[in-house]
Amino acid sequence: MRIACVGRRLPVRDALYDDPALVSFYDLENGGPSPDRDCCLALAGKAASVLDLGCGTGELAVMIASAADGRVGRAVFGVDPAGAMLDNARSRPGGAGVTWVEADARTVRLGRTFDLVVLTGHAFQVFLTEQDRAALLATIAVHLSPAGRFVFDSRNPAAEEWREWTPDRSHRLVAHPDFGAVEAWNDVEHDPVSGIVTYGTFYRIVESGRLLSSRSRIAFPARDEIARLIAAAALAVETWLGDWNGTPFTPASPEIIPLGRRAL
Ligand SMILES: C[S@@+](CC[C@H](N)C(=O)[O-])C[C@H]1O[C@@H](n2cnc3c(N)ncnc32)[C@H](O)[C@@H]1O
Repeated sequence: MRIACVGRRLPVRDALYDDPALVSFYDLENGGPSPDRDCCLALAGKAASVLDLGCGTGELAVMIASAADGRVGRAVFGVDPAGAMLDNARSRPGGAGVTWVEADARTVRLGRTFDLVVLTGHAFQVFLTEQDRAALLATIAVHLSPAGRFVFDSRNPAAEEWREWTPDRSHRLVAHPDFGAVEAWNDVEHDPVSGIVTYGTFYRIVESGRLLSSRSRIAFPARDEIARLIAAAALAVETWLGDWNGTPFTPASPEIIPLGRRAL
């Protein structure tokens, strides 16, 4: 069974995740303590095996693997198609404790099941079509052990978070260990017909004036669609959360977070 691409990279899809220079900003902007990681760590509890789909630079997967101190045999797998993200994951302290798989979460088949399957950091939203989301959910279903649980997050379209991603509102300064001071901002377009949000990410290195940028597309599916696709994948939601602090979902919640299992 082939579970990883060795010596070959999957095609470039989004420079934000495929360009090593842009990837070097990922943990600076998204790393560190966060309620999604805390929640997933708590859910991992006594799980003997955990699968992180769209694991990115691997901070969560490594936290979960490291939290298994003394519990010999907890298997943690991280799957992502972006080789540059996985390069960071492999080289982070504790990275050797995780099995990293360079693959697409819609199609990967690992030939085993897990007690917990997670997607965090809104990785669910990179799946742009209903067909993509159905394929991802099928992957979750195939990899869940009978009592296993899954959890993922998707921004609630009703909260229209993309309105914050304008150049004015998103302007920030980042201190990069190699580039020094960097000016950062985003820009954004929302297509009301498809619901797809296209956003630019820009980093201008202050000293040299060099500009790094990417253009990304993400979907904002509604909860009803997510619920329908989850049921069609033979999965069942136990709890819908509206944020990673455990607040129950309401139509105005910032997040849509289903926590569930295989359907009986
Ligand atoms: C916003 S990042 C989230 C990373 C990580 N889960 C976190 O919480 O920081 C989205 C990730 O989804 C990955 N991704 C994009 N397309 C994917 C696919 N088809 N299958 C799996 N992961 C994918 C990207 O490479 C990227 O690492």
